[in-house]
Amino acid sequence: MNAPGRPACEGGTPIRDTLLPFFRPALGTEEEEAVLGVLRSGWLTTGPQCERFEAAFQKLVDARHAITTSSCTTGLHLILHAAGVGAGDEVIVPAMTFPATANAVLHAGALPVLADVLPGRLTIDPAAARAAIGPRTRAIVAVHLAGWPAEMDALREIAAAHGLALVEDAAHAIGTRYRGRSAGTLGDAASFSFYANKNLTTCEGGMVTTERDDWARRIRVARLHGLDVDASRRDGRGYRHWEAVALGWKYNLNDLQAALGLAQMPKLGAWQTRRVAIDRRYRARLADVPGVEPLRGPDGGETSAHIFPVLLDTARIRIDRDAVLEALLAENVGVGVHYRALPLHRFFRDDLGFRAEDFPVATGASHRTLSLPIFPTLRDDEVDQVVAALDRIVRFYAR
Ligand SMILES: Cc1ncc(COP(=O)(O)O)c(C=O)c1O
Repeated sequence: MNAPGRPACEGGTPIRDTLLPFFRPALGTEEEEAVLGVLRSGWLTTGPQCERFEAAFQKLVDARHAITTSSCTTGLHLILHAAGVGAGDEVIVPAMTFPATANAVLHAGALPVLADVLPGRLTIDPAAARAAIGPRTRAIVAVHLAGWPAEMDALREIAAAHGLALVEDAAHAIGTRYRGRSAGTLGDAASFSFYANKNLTTCEGGMVTTERDDWARRIRVARLHGLDVDASRRDGRGYRHWEAVALGWKYNLNDLQAALGLAQMPKLGAWQTRRVAIDRRYRARLADVPGVEPLRGPDGGETSAHIFPVLLDTARIRIDRDAVLEALLAENVGVGVHYRALPLHRFFRDDLGFRAEDFPVATGASHRTLSLPIFPTLRDDEVDQVVAALDRIVRFYAR
């Protein structure tokens, strides 16, 4: 590696001339043509493209059912609703996650109960999840953080022993595998995200997968106003009355979005291979950078390499994590933070009463984590620049 030199934030020359974005979408003519095709087809909302997308995704993860939704968050809500979670119930979620995981529990009318996470991995600690179980607990939601699977075997055992539903927040987990199986098949149901920066995107969107026929039926009904049939099945051959048969929401994906997603399906394999190669290159290069530790996964886990968080050993440097973020930006390297633990957010602290000190691993990591750029078109030389920038910063500010 080059001599580290003076960081740009201290007057040195930035490692890069232009900003390397944290994420760069990779959509091309196939996606454009697919969307135009839908625009010209005369059918815009949930219809044949959604059905094809569901079939393709179901095959991809080898799940029994796949159901398109407007987002991962609404998918989580639908799963909890199908599981019968409601007022007075509690659902265990990891303290280190995006707010949507806990918000979906609130949307279902239940209370999220936080559990701390595993050091170095930041996925839910099965022992903490077990300790959080009370008489009102109905479900555990595990998050495959950054694309590394949670400890699903241990969680499945705990859920089975206590009669709880086990739900996967698979927002980061398109391509995640655990002991020979894909995320999406590791619990009772899973919810994926197709938000703009995800491994596959429909701009906004999601997919629920489940092994349970009864949940699949309830989710399909609840996803679209509680109606007994999808609009696409009102196919015009004779008039057919639609009927509301249950409480529902407006949580469907549309065919423009589904066509966008479908067009990316043939590319996913190559993108995944590239993401994993970038992940490996980061790990190899970062081995020489003092006090920077990439997240790890469980035995038998394979990452989707959705994001690449590292934990800084802040005791070894004279600046805090936020100053490192600023220093990386000064080098023209885009960065992210995944995440600040829920108890550190005003809503979860003041309105729900969670205390940071009750979740020391998640809150400790919140002040030490930062995420480096990773996306399929990121080049090896760009990976090396990112590592050089981080190396320069941690060496300059070493204690
Ligand atoms: C862990 C996690 N869960 C849920 C979500 C929500 O996904 P969506 O925006 O599709 O609702 C996100 C969003 O990035 C996430 O990171």
